[in-house]
Amino acid sequence: MKILSVVGARPQFVKLAPINKAAIAAGAEHVIVHTGQHYDPMLSDVFFEDLGIGSPDVHLGVGSGSHGVQTGAMLSALDAVLDEHRPDWVLVYGDTNSTIAAALSAVKMHIPVAHLEAGLRSFNRRMPEEHNRVMTDHAADLLLAPTRGAVEHLASEGLGARTILVGDVMTDVLFDVRDQIAGRRSTLTEELGLASGGYYLATIHRAENTDDPVRLSQVIDGLAGLDRPVILLAHPRVTAKAAAHGLRLDRGALRAHAPLAYPDLIAAAMSSAGIVTDSGGLQKEAFLLRVPCTTVRTETEWVETIELGWNALAGTAAEITAAVSRPAPAPTDASPYGDGHAAERVIAALHAHSG
Ligand code: UD1
Repeated sequence: MKILSVVGARPQFVKLAPINKAAIAAGAEHVIVHTGQHYDPMLSDVFFEDLGIGSPDVHLGVGSGSHGVQTGAMLSALDAVLDEHRPDWVLVYGDTNSTIAAALSAVKMHIPVAHLEAGLRSFNRRMPEEHNRVMTDHAADLLLAPTRGAVEHLASEGLGARTILVGDVMTDVLFDVRDQIAGRRSTLTEELGLASGGYYLATIHRAENTDDPVRLSQVIDGLAGLDRPVILLAHPRVTAKAAAHGLRLDRGALRAHAPLAYPDLIAAAMSSAGIVTDSGGLQKEAFLLRVPCTTVRTETEWVETIELGWNALAGTAAEITAAVSRPAPAPTDASPYGDGHAAERVIAALHAHSG
């Protein structure tokens, strides 16, 4: 069986790692195509190195641009790649512009396409990720759902017959990395001289929080006013937007820092007092590590983290303060994101449905 994975943005490289490992273990041929959506070494290369993925087989070098320009460049480059490799499956990941481009390209070329992390919904039609995931699910032949809730969403859209519950591959990689780094100190706490539990870790990058200066300013106010140092691992998008809007990312409790490699991020999250983020992946990682999380959005796809009390939504600066200082969540042994063996189920499902 030949699988061709298309990835392009940071969270997709994380999900790729366990899939690549499981594909190799099962004797499948695995071709990796990097669209080039993320190109800074700290958003791309370090993940391939640290997570043992090896280099991509094909790099499209598409880079940044408006949605149409970026997605269109990927589409026009992918035809020749898919034609050359003719895989049994094109595997697409999550909800970025790389996801929708690869799904559309494969479907037009009559190559079976499977969507990993299918069925998530925010029901917020202003989010680019929501457009990408809804359209990818409806284009794909096989929908690999991470949670029961995702399975229900797909069934309610008439896609139940193409859906399989596999669990969440981010659990696989997180548990592996957590075990590898056990006992090691976080490079971030060493570098900044932070005590364990003495700081909050933050990431903000979504368009809805960064693109409007008034909105970004509210978020910065919320972070700057917290009761411990807040280390903002600044995605290039928030750095660029803050500079363009004339906003400082280093005032009050807030301190900007470059993004971290994945093992360093997990180590820094584990010894933080809490996480404040608009990232989908980090909300779930916080839950899996049992670190309280505040999500700076109006809704989340990962509703289980909220229902179990380990995540809270916050919009205004006052809501961010209130959510971060809420009482510690009740311990839980719930595992809505699977058992750490999702990638093996993905490869088995592709095998069972190929040909
Ligand atoms: C993308 C995804 C988002 C995902 C995020 C993970 C889409 C629509 N969005 O958002 O769902 O959560 O990745 O990080 O696909 N930039 C750099 N260097 C890079 C990449 C980007 O400087 O390597 C800057 C550029 O100014 C660029 C901006 O970041 O214009 C936005 O990058 P883009 O790929 O459009 O979206 P992300 O915000 O990264």
